[in-house]
Amino acid sequence: MQNKAPIGLFDSGVGGLTILKALQVVLPSENIIYFGDTAHVPYGNKSKTAVTKYSTEIVKFLENKKVKFIIVGCNTASALALPSIKKIAKVGLLGVLMPAAKQAVKTTKNGKIAVIATQATVNSNSYKNTISKLNKNLKVYQFACPLLVPLIEDKKLLKTLLPTMLKYYLAPVKKCGADTLILGCTHYPIIKNQIAKMLGSSVKLIDSAHNTALETKNILAQKKLLNTSKTKAKIRAYTSDAPKHFETLAKAILNQKSIKAELAK
Ligand code: DGL
Repeated sequence: MQNKAPIGLFDSGVGGLTILKALQVVLPSENIIYFGDTAHVPYGNKSKTAVTKYSTEIVKFLENKKVKFIIVGCNTASALALPSIKKIAKVGLLGVLMPAAKQAVKTTKNGKIAVIATQATVNSNSYKNTISKLNKNLKVYQFACPLLVPLIEDKKLLKTLLPTMLKYYLAPVKKCGADTLILGCTHYPIIKNQIAKMLGSSVKLIDSAHNTALETKNILAQKKLLNTSKTKAKIRAYTSDAPKHFETLAKAILNQKSIKAELAK
């Protein structure tokens, strides 16, 4: 019975949908409940206390919906809140930092890895510490891009301001000489093409989505929790504010005609 239970996935807003997209490819039979904490987006300029409080409430909300496993589809929440929420969660939890870090360590040829992320993720040094646990000889350069999340959550502004903003944020990335760039925020794969265009093919872009989905599959298989049913998987989305705005962005990101979001109560 638990096999058919949904996977819970959350983020501050639409960023976690990049993980949802990868889950639909790797685990097409899994039902998913998505939570976008749109009342509190962006997390990246909030304190550890605040992000831990929001994440704790979302974990409880998802557990009330009887999820079998929870993916923290947000780098900021993974960096700041994962140890605390692991203590209170009744189901297994997976963050998105380790899957991206592992992939970057495998990818780099010149031993230099750059990370772009929210201010809170950069300040936590989580990527630096995670990568140095995997290989202490690698050099890690971290750059905060605090305005990218608000921009991605606002379609109109995105079109106009993105080129200027990327030029500004990616200049130090180019300068540091890294051959591998971690998109250390789940919102950033939404603008991956624009980032790739600006950096050129000599810099390989890494994000958490595919590897998080693969790791989820492994964990669920180990726990004998994979959903093997042939019925079409159900996706349900909740937000803490403005569900209609979320739906508009989600349709574009997921390339799906209709996705319904409800206000969480
Ligand atoms: N998608 C979140 C992350 O991966 C965005 C954080 C924010 O809301 O600032 O860090």
